[in-house]
Amino acid sequence: MCGIIGITSNKPVSSSILHSLKKLEYRGYDSAGIATIDNGNINEVKSLGRVEVLEKNISQINLEGYIGIGHVRWATHGMPSTINAHPHSTENISVVHNGIIENSINLKNLLIKKGHKFKSETDTEVIVHLLSEYMKSNELNETIIKTLNDLEGSFALGIIFKDIPNIIVGARRGSPLAVGYGPNENYLGSDSYALKSMTNKITYLNDGEFCVIKKEEIDFFDHLGKKINKKVLQLSSNELNYEKGEYKHYMAKEIDEQPSTIKNCINEYVDKINNEINLLNFPWNKEQIKSVKLIGCGTAFHSCLMGKYWFEELTNLDVDVDIASEFRYRKNKFKEDCLYIFVSQSGETADTYAALNLCKKNKVKTCSIINVVESSIARDSDFVLPIHCGPEIGVASTKAFLGQMLVIYLLCLKISILMKDIKREDYDKKIRNLGLLSDLVKKTILDENQIQSISNTFAEAKGSMFLGRGFSYPIALEGALKLKELAYIHAEGYPAGEMKHGPLALIEDGMPVVVIAPKDDYYKKTISNMQEVIARGAKVLLLTNKDVNQIVSENIWQIIKIETTNDDLYPFLTTIPLQKLAYFTALKKGHDIDKPRNLAKSVTVE
Ligand code: M6R
Repeated sequence: MCGIIGITSNKPVSSSILHSLKKLEYRGYDSAGIATIDNGNINEVKSLGRVEVLEKNISQINLEGYIGIGHVRWATHGMPSTINAHPHSTENISVVHNGIIENSINLKNLLIKKGHKFKSETDTEVIVHLLSEYMKSNELNETIIKTLNDLEGSFALGIIFKDIPNIIVGARRGSPLAVGYGPNENYLGSDSYALKSMTNKITYLNDGEFCVIKKEEIDFFDHLGKKINKKVLQLSSNELNYEKGEYKHYMAKEIDEQPSTIKNCINEYVDKINNEINLLNFPWNKEQIKSVKLIGCGTAFHSCLMGKYWFEELTNLDVDVDIASEFRYRKNKFKEDCLYIFVSQSGETADTYAALNLCKKNKVKTCSIINVVESSIARDSDFVLPIHCGPEIGVASTKAFLGQMLVIYLLCLKISILMKDIKREDYDKKIRNLGLLSDLVKKTILDENQIQSISNTFAEAKGSMFLGRGFSYPIALEGALKLKELAYIHAEGYPAGEMKHGPLALIEDGMPVVVIAPKDDYYKKTISNMQEVIARGAKVLLLTNKDVNQIVSENIWQIIKIETTNDDLYPFLTTIPLQKLAYFTALKKGHDIDKPRNLAKSVTVE
C-alpha cells in the first residue's frame, strides 16, 4: 500500500508531484521519490522518510521536467531505505508501483541470467528490468502486455520511458488506479484524492486495463491491448476541498465532525416526514434473504461485529461476521439466500476486495457499506450503501467507524421491519431516537477535560485492557485498537465475562483497565466483572451513562458518564471517549497522530 502519481504537462511538474505526494502520504510514508524526464534523461530523486525530506532535497537541485512520476512507500519487500524507495529505474525506463509481485524472486533470477543488475531488495525492480528486456524487441503495447502477463500478484503502475518522453503508462491489477484530465495536462494517481487539487474529472482503471497518458489525450486498453472507451466521472465540490483548517490533526477534526456526519447520513437515509428508512432501490425482497454475513478488516470489522449484535437483537436472520483476510482463504459454503455485506472506509482494502470478488465468483448477493463511492469495492458490489462521511485522512478510523455502524444499524432496522421482525411502533420509536443521535454525540465530544488528565496514566502504562459485554464488546475491541495504533501501548479488548478464563492473569497492581458499562441489559454482569479486576489491583476507568446514580464500588479509579440513550445507540456514544483517550495519550507521547508508525490508511496489499 503505497501511493503513486504521474503528471504530464506543458509546464514543469515536480512541485505538483510533490503536492500530490503529500496528499498520498496516508497510504505510506517511510520513503518517497520522484523521476522526471528532462533533456533526454531520466532524473531520479529519492529520500528516506516523509515527503518533506524529499521536498528539501529537490529544492537543492532544481528538478526540471514536464513529465514525471512520484511515489510514497509503505515497505513490503526490503526495509525502508533510499535505495528501496521508488521510482526504480534502468537507464531508459522508470517505474512506480503499489502492490506486491509474488513471483519476483523467480523473475529476478531469470533476469540476472540475462545480464540484468539489480540495486534494491524490492519486488518492484523486476518490473522495470522486464520492461527493458521486452522493449529491446517489441513495440510499446506489446512490451506492456508481455510484462504484465509475466507478473503474479497485485499492482498499480506508473511508467515513464526515456525514448518516448511524452507518455506515462498506467496499469492496474488488484491495486486501485485513477486517471485525471486537466487543461493541457493529464494525471495518474492511486486515488482521486491525490488528483483533487488539479482536477475533478476522473476515470478509474479496471483490473487488467492499462492506459497511455499524453498531455493532450489518454488512450485506454484492455488486457489484450484492444482500445476501449471509459466513462469520465465528475467529482462533487465538497469532495474536493478537505483540509485540516485550524485543527492540529486530521484525527481531531474527524472526531469533531461526527455529529455532522451522523446528521448527514441520517438525512440521506431517513425520510423524516414518513418516519421511514429509505434504502433507495434495495434490490432484494424479504423472501430472498435468510441470513447475512458481514465482512471487513480492522475497525471496519468491529463495525461488522456490532452489526451481528444488532441483527441478532432486531431480526430473526442468521448472522455471521468474518475478518476478510480469513474469509478469503477458508472453505466457505456460499449461500444463495445470504446477503454478504462488505464494510470498508476506503473501499480499496485488498483483503476485503478479494473477499468480495470471491463472493462475486460464487454468484451470491453482495452489498457494500463504504465511504469512498468511487472505490473498487463500491464499483464491484451489487448494491452500495455509502456512509456519507466525507474524506477521512487520519490513519486511525473515527468518523468512518460511526458512519459504518450507523448504516449497518439502518440496514438492520429496515430489514427487520420488512421481515416483520419488529413491531411498527418500536420501529417508529427507534427512528425517532436516531433523530437525537447527532446531538448526543456532540455533547459527548464536548466533554474532554477528564479524558485529557486520564491519558497521563495511560501514557505511562505498559499495557491496558478494554472490557465490555454485549453491545459494548465490539466497542472494547475498537477502543483497544485505537490505543494500540496511536499510542503504541499494548491493549487487549475482551468480553468482560471471558477475563476469568485466562486474561485475568495479566492484571497487575495499577494496570489501567477500561470497563464499558452503560445501563443496558448487560450492566450488572459487567459491573461484577469490573469488581474482579479491581480486586486484583486494576485502575478502572468506568464508562457508563449519566442516569447511573449508584455505582456499586468505591474503588473505581475514574468514572466517565456519557449521555443516556436507548440501548441500541450506546455504541455511538461510548466510542467517543475511547477515540479521545487514544488521541490524547498519543499526543502526550509525542507520536505522529495522523500517521502512526508502520501503518497506512488504505491497505491495498495483503
Ligand atoms: O478502508 P477500510 O475500512 O477497509 O480499512 C480497514 C482497516 O485497515 C482500518 O479500519 C484500520 O483498522 C484502521 N486504521 C483502524 O483505525
